[in-house]
Amino acid sequence: MKKQSLIAGKIIHYQHKTQEVPFYHTEYDGDVFTLALSEETAPTYLGGTFKTRNDDLLIMTYPKSGTHWVSYITDQIRKKVSLQNTENDFYIGGIPFLDRTAPEELALLPSPRAMYSHLPYRFAPNHPSATLKYIVVARNPKDVAVSQFNFLSNMKMFDFNGSWDDFLTLFMKGKGFGGSYFDWVLQWWEHKDDDNVLFITYEALKKDLQKEVGTISHFLKYSLSVTEQQEVAAACTFEAMKKNQIGAIEKHKAQTMKKNKSFYRKGVVGDWKNYFSPEQTKAFDHWCKTNLKGTGLSFIFS
Ligand code: A3P
Repeated sequence: MKKQSLIAGKIIHYQHKTQEVPFYHTEYDGDVFTLALSEETAPTYLGGTFKTRNDDLLIMTYPKSGTHWVSYITDQIRKKVSLQNTENDFYIGGIPFLDRTAPEELALLPSPRAMYSHLPYRFAPNHPSATLKYIVVARNPKDVAVSQFNFLSNMKMFDFNGSWDDFLTLFMKGKGFGGSYFDWVLQWWEHKDDDNVLFITYEALKKDLQKEVGTISHFLKYSLSVTEQQEVAAACTFEAMKKNQIGAIEKHKAQTMKKNKSFYRKGVVGDWKNYFSPEQTKAFDHWCKTNLKGTGLSFIFS
């Protein structure tokens, strides 16, 4: 049964699958959102009525850009300074997924709260004091597209049966899993120099994890010793997170995935080379160039 309602006078479809976007998603005002925005959570988060606190921390990611990674790093940093949220199945470590968690549940968490979200800038919870912090994570769009394609194809709940070619066409039309990649990343990029924003990349984390652990700790004003930074980095490698089954999807992969594959798929920079044809690379490079022109944003692709 397709469900729809209105938020601020605009139509929202829940659990929606169409010929145009052939995987289950939530759609609001013509934009694609993840299934996490449900009838319970969307009116608050898209309606802008979530009650924030001035010491909230939000980890903002476009899906498949390193959400689990940065949320778990942040969780591990916070545990070093004894800030522990209640853990439950849908949290990454102790950090809840704002988009799919009822606001009433988040209201029970002790301060300072940390939450993660896929919301674009225009819907991000804000606080008038501007002391609420955002860690924004970006990943190069070629690897994001490949990671999304594998995720959609393997997770039962999306019921996506398209080819890589089909998916790439959708992604470049701004109908990827989570909506338009460039809308998302460029809206946040405009705020990269705000005092309460830390903009980091998947590729920088891959290059020097311990250094980025230091950068995140510093931004959060937690002083970790070098040994503590090393410990956090060791707990947050691809191998360690896979082994310890971090996150609900990995824990329940036998039920949620078509082939019981791991959520921790490859975890590298440059896997796109195994998917993109020369023609696709040419078209995608042109698309990136057009969207990035004059923005100052660039990506590492390998
Ligand atoms: P791949 O599909 O390219 O392997 P998200 O958490 O936003 O859904 O992102 C998932 C992507 O991040 C997947 O990419 C996953 O393997 C990768 N990832 C998760 N933890 C990682 C880690 N510790 N190191 C490197 N990549 C990681």
